[in-house]
Amino acid sequence: MDSSPTPPPLIRRAVPADAVALSALILRTIRTSNAQDYPPDEIERVCASFTPGEVAKQIALRDVFLSRAKEAADAPPVGTVSLGVKPRPSGGETAKLHVLFVAPEWQGRGVGQKLVAHLEAHALNQGHRLIQVSSSLTARQFYQRLGYRELRFEPREEGSTYLMEKPLG
Ligand SMILES: CC(C)(COP(=O)(O)OP(=O)(O)OC[C@H]1O[C@@H](n2cnc3c(N)ncnc32)[C@H](O)[C@@H]1OP(=O)(O)O)[C@@H](O)C(=O)NCCC(=O)NCCS
Repeated sequence: MDSSPTPPPLIRRAVPADAVALSALILRTIRTSNAQDYPPDEIERVCASFTPGEVAKQIALRDVFLSRAKEAADAPPVGTVSLGVKPRPSGGETAKLHVLFVAPEWQGRGVGQKLVAHLEAHALNQGHRLIQVSSSLTARQFYQRLGYRELRFEPREEGSTYLMEKPLG
């Protein structure tokens, strides 16, 4: 692990070649961090959505970003987050924050907060005035701290979540 107390954000857009490294980062974080809040069968169902092939699809469909520990563009990722959109029943689209993961050894050092700030600025830049997230049980208090308001509990076999939202701008 890098010993610097506050890593620089070093955030860049993910490309298809990042899929293998991002999958490894996400699976390791789920099995280490989220496994503290969900039973093993749910953890494995969640993991099925983050194989290298699934992550490659997400990179093609969403705006995926990664944070790395070193300046080099090919330095291994230490965190990731992505922006998707969901259609609103009344028309239009709502921005949705997806797949926020920070490697266990990098947690508690501001990487998650910087990734969320980056994604919120990106969503605002795309014209969104509101962003939602289906927060893991693990991250609920993290999002509350960043100003997200809880809307409802979302029970799911592949990992229940809390739907939360925050106005942008
Ligand atoms: C949730 C997660 C992304 C947070 O990333 P992180 O880099 O550790 O968070 P940061 O260091 O930026 O923390 C920002 C603030 O939130 C607080 N915080 C972080 N995780 C928290 C938690 N689980 N509970 C309460 N507060 C938390 C920090 O103490 C910090 O507060 P401060 O600014 O007052 O010091 C990370 O823990 C993670 O990857 N968890 C597992 C995956 C997951 O559940 N992701 C969310 C999917 S929706």
